[in-house]
Amino acid sequence: MLPRKIDQILSRVDRLWPMPTSVNRTLRAMEDPMITAGYVAELIALDQALAASVLQMANSAAMGFTVNCTSINEAVMRLGFKRLKNLIMSIVAEGPLSRNLSGYRIGAGDLWNHAISTAVTAQWLAQAVGYGDPDEAYLAGLLHDIGKLLLDQYIVLDYSKMIDLMQRYNLRLWQVEEQLLGIDHAAVGGLMAEKWNYPVVLIDAIRCHHAPSLARTRPELPAIVNVANALSAQVGVTNKELFVNEIHPESYNILRLSEDTLEQLRKRVGEYLSASRSQSRI
Ligand SMILES: [Fe+2]
Ligand SMILES: [Fe+2]
Repeated sequence: MLPRKIDQILSRVDRLWPMPTSVNRTLRAMEDPMITAGYVAELIALDQALAASVLQMANSAAMGFTVNCTSINEAVMRLGFKRLKNLIMSIVAEGPLSRNLSGYRIGAGDLWNHAISTAVTAQWLAQAVGYGDPDEAYLAGLLHDIGKLLLDQYIVLDYSKMIDLMQRYNLRLWQVEEQLLGIDHAAVGGLMAEKWNYPVVLIDAIRCHHAPSLARTRPELPAIVNVANALSAQVGVTNKELFVNEIHPESYNILRLSEDTLEQLRKRVGEYLSASRSQSRI
C-alpha cells in the first residue's frame, strides 16, 4: 500500500474513535506523577456519564468490593489510577469495538467480546508468568485488534478472495491482509496507537501481537497478547475463520510458558466465557 494511502486511512481515526475532551483531559492528567486523586475526581465529575461509570465500577462486586462508596473521590482512591485508566479506556473503546464490521463480516458486539476476553486472559496470564504490570496487559489485550476498525472498509470487496486465500494456502488473516492491502490490522493498530501517543510498549504489543519477536522493546507484552488472543479465539468467538487461534511458537520461549500453566489458563478462560454467555442470556 502506498504511504499516502496509509495516511488517508489514518486520517479517519478521529472520526472512527472520538475521544471526548473530558476523557482526554482525565487520561492526560493521570500521566502526571504529581497529580492528586482529588484533582482527577474533579475532572471525572465534570462528565456525568463518565462519573456514573466510575462509581458503578468502584461498587461492582466483580471487582471484589463489598462496601458501597458514594463519592467520585472515594471511587478514584479505591480503584487506583491504573485500574481507573483501564476503566476509562474500556468506556471509550466499547462504542467503536462493538460496531458491526461489514468488511470482515464480524457481527455487532463480536469484536468487543473478543477484546474483553483477550484483555481478561492477558491479565491472568501476566499474573501467571510474573509480568510486572498485569493492568498494562489488560489494556494491551483490550486494544490489540483496533486496526480492524480501520481496515474494515477496505476489506469489503476482497472478503471472499481473502477467505479463499486463507483456505487454499493455509494463511493467517494478517498474512492475507498484507498480501491484499499491503498492511495488516496489527500494523494499522500500531500506527493508530502511535498517533495517540501511547507508550512504546503498548504500541509494540498491538503492532506485534501476531509476531511477538519483532517487538522493538521487550517482547513479553506482545507475547502475552498473542497467547491471550489465541486462547480467547479458541474458545470464544463465533466467526472462527477470521480469528487467529494459534499461539506463535516464539511466545512459549519468550514467556517460558509451561503446558501446565497454559492448560490451567485455557480452563479458566473457558469457564469465564461460558459464564459470560449464560449471563448475557438472562
Ligand atoms: Fe489480531
Ligand atoms: Fe484478536
